[in-house]
Amino acid sequence: MAPQETAAAGEGGVAPPRRLKVKINNKYYTIGPEVSKTMTLVDFLREQVKLPGTKVLCREGGCGVCTVVATAPDPEHEGAYKTFSVNACQLLVYACAGWSFETVEYLGNRYDGYHTLQKALTGFYGTQCGYCSPGMIMTMYGQLKSSGSLTAAQVEESLDGNLCRCTGYRPILDAFKSLAEDGDQCLKDKLVDIEEANRARCPKTGNACKGKCESSKKEDESSCKNGQGNQADADPIEEEVAFTDGGIQWYRPLTLVGVRNAMKKIQRDEKYCIVVGNTGQGVYKEDGPYTTYISTNAVKALYNISVGEPLVLGANVSLSRAIEVFQHVANTYPNYRYLDTLVRHWKLVANVSVRNTGSWAGNLMLKHKHHEFPSDIFLTLLAVDAQLTLIHADTTDTLQVDLETFLTTDMSRRLITAVTLSPMAQDTQFRTYKITPRTVNAHAYVNACFKIRVDPEDGFKVIGNPTIVYGGINPDFIHAKQTESFLRGRSLLQVPTIVKAARLLGKEVKPDAQPQDASPQYRKSLAQNLLYKAIVSILGDKVSNEIVSGGTMLERPLSSGQQEFDMNRDMWPVGKAIPKVESATQISGEAVYMDDIPTLPGELHGAFVQTKYAKAKLKSADASEALRIPGVVAYINASDIPGKNSFYPGGGPDPVFIDEQVRYAGQAVGLIVANDRETAVRAAKLVNVEYEDIAKPALTIVEALQEGREEVAVNIMTGKREPHSLGDVEEGFKEVKHKLKGELQQGSQFHLTMEAIAARVVPTEDGYDVFSTTQWPTQTQSSVAEVLDIPAHCINVSVRRIGGGYGGKITRQHVVSSAAAVASRKLRCPVRIVVDLNTHMSLVGWREPYLSKYEVGFDDDGKLQALRVDMFSDAGHVPNEASVGFLAGPVQNAYHVPNLLFRPVIVRTDTAANTWCRTPGTVEALATIENILEHIANYLKKDPLEVRMLNMVKPEVPRLMAPPLERNVVLDEILPLLKQKAMYEQRKEEVEAFNKANRWKKRGLSIVPLWYGFNYPSMFRYGIQVSIYEHDGTVAVTHGGIEMGQGINTKVAQVAAHALEIPIEKVIIKASDTTVGANSIVTGGSFGTDICCHGTKIACEALRQRIDAIKEEELKKDANKELTWEELIRMCHMRDVDLCERYWTAGKEHPQRYDIWAACCLEVEIDVLTGQYLLHRADIVEDCGKSMNPFVDIGQVEGAFIMGVGLYTSELVKFNVETGEKLSNGTWEYKPPTALDIPVDMRVTLLPNASNPYGVLGSKATGEPALCFSYVVVTALRQAIAAFRAENGNEDWFDMHTPLTVEKVQQLCGVRPEQFRLVSNLEGETCPEDFQMIDGDEVADAVESDANEASCSMT
Ligand SMILES: Cc1cc2nc3c(=O)[nH]c(=O)nc-3n(C[C@H](O)[C@H](O)[C@H](O)COP(=O)(O)OP(=O)(O)OC[C@H]3O[C@@H](n4cnc5c(N)ncnc54)[C@H](O)[C@@H]3O)c2cc1C
Ligand code: FES
Ligand code: FES
Repeated sequence: MAPQETAAAGEGGVAPPRRLKVKINNKYYTIGPEVSKTMTLVDFLREQVKLPGTKVLCREGGCGVCTVVATAPDPEHEGAYKTFSVNACQLLVYACAGWSFETVEYLGNRYDGYHTLQKALTGFYGTQCGYCSPGMIMTMYGQLKSSGSLTAAQVEESLDGNLCRCTGYRPILDAFKSLAEDGDQCLKDKLVDIEEANRARCPKTGNACKGKCESSKKEDESSCKNGQGNQADADPIEEEVAFTDGGIQWYRPLTLVGVRNAMKKIQRDEKYCIVVGNTGQGVYKEDGPYTTYISTNAVKALYNISVGEPLVLGANVSLSRAIEVFQHVANTYPNYRYLDTLVRHWKLVANVSVRNTGSWAGNLMLKHKHHEFPSDIFLTLLAVDAQLTLIHADTTDTLQVDLETFLTTDMSRRLITAVTLSPMAQDTQFRTYKITPRTVNAHAYVNACFKIRVDPEDGFKVIGNPTIVYGGINPDFIHAKQTESFLRGRSLLQVPTIVKAARLLGKEVKPDAQPQDASPQYRKSLAQNLLYKAIVSILGDKVSNEIVSGGTMLERPLSSGQQEFDMNRDMWPVGKAIPKVESATQISGEAVYMDDIPTLPGELHGAFVQTKYAKAKLKSADASEALRIPGVVAYINASDIPGKNSFYPGGGPDPVFIDEQVRYAGQAVGLIVANDRETAVRAAKLVNVEYEDIAKPALTIVEALQEGREEVAVNIMTGKREPHSLGDVEEGFKEVKHKLKGELQQGSQFHLTMEAIAARVVPTEDGYDVFSTTQWPTQTQSSVAEVLDIPAHCINVSVRRIGGGYGGKITRQHVVSSAAAVASRKLRCPVRIVVDLNTHMSLVGWREPYLSKYEVGFDDDGKLQALRVDMFSDAGHVPNEASVGFLAGPVQNAYHVPNLLFRPVIVRTDTAANTWCRTPGTVEALATIENILEHIANYLKKDPLEVRMLNMVKPEVPRLMAPPLERNVVLDEILPLLKQKAMYEQRKEEVEAFNKANRWKKRGLSIVPLWYGFNYPSMFRYGIQVSIYEHDGTVAVTHGGIEMGQGINTKVAQVAAHALEIPIEKVIIKASDTTVGANSIVTGGSFGTDICCHGTKIACEALRQRIDAIKEEELKKDANKELTWEELIRMCHMRDVDLCERYWTAGKEHPQRYDIWAACCLEVEIDVLTGQYLLHRADIVEDCGKSMNPFVDIGQVEGAFIMGVGLYTSELVKFNVETGEKLSNGTWEYKPPTALDIPVDMRVTLLPNASNPYGVLGSKATGEPALCFSYVVVTALRQAIAAFRAENGNEDWFDMHTPLTVEKVQQLCGVRPEQFRLVSNLEGETCPEDFQMIDGDEVADAVESDANEASCSMT
């Protein structure tokens, strides 16, 4: 029920005044006592207003799925309003009383038509699972409405906070850029086609809608669904608000005096919060709960902006507004040009939606509370000598402090009111840097600011005191004081000065060793390198051309994409690039995901209590404090389980709740059940868990091997625990010319489905209805049946769709459905569990980490002669899903290994049971052989591609665990085509030339081919039912597969339409369930789509036969008779033809196995000094056979490729090595690629003239293979790193364990201050390795004796 217009008195105090309202989609909602003071807007929208189109995942401002558009009074202009995008998970609903919001439902829907942004996203195939889509649209809508314009650059910039795991972003960017004023004409033409197809012309002007109203008439604007119109005015509250409710004080003053008065009421040591954007809780979630909230959003004085000299900004000015002001002032006032630098830096803070509401003062207070926070705002303001104005509750005096003093000022009952920025002398050089694990929306490893006055006429001598400050070093470190004083009066043109300064810096910078941070050595090296970077940049053209690249950052141009594919018109709609059948519901928020199902009266919510230790015994768990919280109903644990305490049917035990032995940190101890989610989550934290026998866990393969926790996997050919072999390895090694040994470690990966795992269990008259985010309803059913110890037929599982799977919802989500079932049975009411991201990431296992050890023998040319590979898979605490036993085939990739011994080993660690993740093991096996070939190429000093080509397998040659090939398509067709399309030879030369010309930026170009043996396992079987309705001939298909974004429903609909010979509009796909789809297997491994399409085809053909028989009868009567489909169906019905067909896709009738081929060419560029990298261009050619839907397939290829890029670069997992806690458990620490991390130029070609005699309708699967060749990002980065190392005389092989983070790239380059130069390759210019170092106590001397340091001078 939506909140009522009336508000009753809250518990124990004065209820909020009746006037507190928000306007949502043009309707007013009262914020009554049923709304908790800490309720966020997203919960209000979803739970109270019942608008589930706005999604929720991280609750940290880090993923963007909750984006809505807000309109709030513009504090700078009386009576005016401002519109901007916000993260609804951050805003407290009470704090935005008086604002109005638009959600995706309002933008467009099936009743009123769709907004152009929505149509563009579907038309460009920009949705897969669709869970991110509402957020993407609302972010772009916010951009359009707030600025009134949309350029291609704005599209890219504004998507910095929206994650998508499915698409690889390219189609999303294209969709929105098609609407940009300066968008590419090809994209615009496509958009026109989409508009035509949707017949969505502007009813007023008749033109195709451009996303904003072109009509000059005001009334047109207000009725326009497409852009600037329908501005929902806010309803500002003009009076102070103060109330007490449930022990919480809430104040909403209008003036500074009001704030002071509110602060006066705060007791000493009371926990209170000034609420502005409330985004701080996205970073420091544990800071609350508070007993007093003071919302300062209505205090106009805090928004004051005074432009001039000095520039003053009120404390509540948002980061976005500050950036606008800085830009304006920098352009207007010469002494404020330095603000350009702040603009660039502040645009790298958080993301657009956080910056739209987050204030600079709130940011500073985070730094004040948490000195370790690498605040960009603090550092940059400090560097420019900004002054803060503070007021105190008890006095009317104001206090002016600089940023360093602020850090040590007691801020209790103090308020920041303003910041003052002074002009800066124009001869001052100001540089700032922020080095991050990915391009945007990431905190700094290290940030740095350099403010140095120099005299260019006098050897760039430093005038006065330079400012050199760093963040991310340790909580206390800010100024590099010794380095600052050392540089005073010295010439920056002196290389020894630079080297000495860097070495000195290396001594005074002492990074702390925090497990979640980058290594101290990297952070120290970054500090040194950034100093050098700043100096090179300041010296400008005084340094030689090769060195210039040391002074710049990587510049990312606007991205673009190209796709090429055959039209394959012969079987349309099979083969046609039609939009996904559910995309219209996805873009309007109408698509229903598990947690969008409305709650039933009396439905309860569960939140897990989790362990902190990985290896311990559970002594006790006391929930009494939690149970005292109003609204908490019960605490459920292992003793409540009537059946088996394991959510893994048929495997080793994986307990729902800990019985005694803790197996991993994050494991569920129990479940708190409460009336609402927020209460359950809060109470779960209060359960007091005690442990005994706490021990240090084994968290890595290496640690587990030391404890002997390994077993050889079962050889699936022999059924024994033994290696797989081909040829005779022992003999083979006797013949070899060269031998190498090596290792490759590959890390884990979180699936990061944008919809977390969730389940809802509802008791029914015959058992339980289970709604679950499962890829495997049958096993969810079995797991609930076993846990509750009831028959399977009592459990009905149904799944409409899931918001991404990638393997993460095959079995891992059973823990949620089982726990909900136990609670539902005990409490006899519906129970829902929707875990938050932190819980999801720690509760369940991820992709298995791998360790490969190899010994390889080869001849002088690099031809493989013998190979031994041991692959160790980290299965976690129980090896139910280790995939290593299947990797003997993939480890050969497209190569011939005449003598091969492959030993698959499963290792147990004290971590959550790891699980399948998109191409489980296959990608790691492929990476292993590619790494081996790179190793050989390095040893022989050959081009790695040459070694690859030399080893390509020929047809008819025996293969391990795979039949001999009919053809090597990658050798015969794909590589020649790819090399030509990517202009490989030419670009290879260009890369070499670039590397010669640039000392500090290096490029790498690499090609990785792929053979992917696609073998349908016989247990992959699905139930399919096709029903034709006699009423109008429409068709409903139910299949046992799960739509999770891969397009199974679209392809099934296409196949049904083709086989029945009807328009696709007649076909609809229904939810999957365990009644029609009984006993269906998991949807995964790219098998589900193929087999369900195969089954649908057979079912439809059977129906068509029956229908055709009637048709023939009719034609016999009258050869000229023309029957419409509808007439024919009606006739069939009248003649008792069964219009339903069920088909079971028996294993023996599967399509035959086939090979999938592909290759990718990637060019990367690295910044040697920082380790940051840019993917310049990716060219992919993949054999999809006759694609059933080219855009669905290209979407799969691009999405899988980018997921692989994340796996191999930024997605790093960290544990607390003492306790075993997963530290990478949210968006702050875990970094999948964003829209600005994908290749700048992304080109995908589906192999032309391809077909597949063995697959379904000539097609090939596309869901997984492309992830395998994403290893190309590692091989390309290797080229770039190797180029730098070679230049420094080191051509040795080096290990590249993955993920290859920015930190690792830089560390592998191994830059030392002694390598700093100003002129490249000039004799006498570089600094000798044995250059005299200044020890700490010599610093003072060094400062004094600056005049004598000229030995390596340029001049
Ligand atoms: C996803 C995400 C990414 C981020 N990335 C970065 C980043 O890369 N770099 C970076 O530097 N920051 C980053 N941040 C931090 C972000 O800049 C801050 O969260 C934001 O600026 C805080 O402003 P706010 O108005 O939301 O503060 P709130 O959350 O409303 O308040 C934060 C704290 O400040 C106090 N406070 C607020 N205003 C005042 C005042 N006037 N006087 C005294 N106390 C006050 C509050 O009591 C509270 O304790 C990120 C945040 C998020 C959520
Ligand atoms: S749920 Fe709000 S940003 Fe992730
Ligand atoms: S479509 Fe973006 S997360 Fe699935």
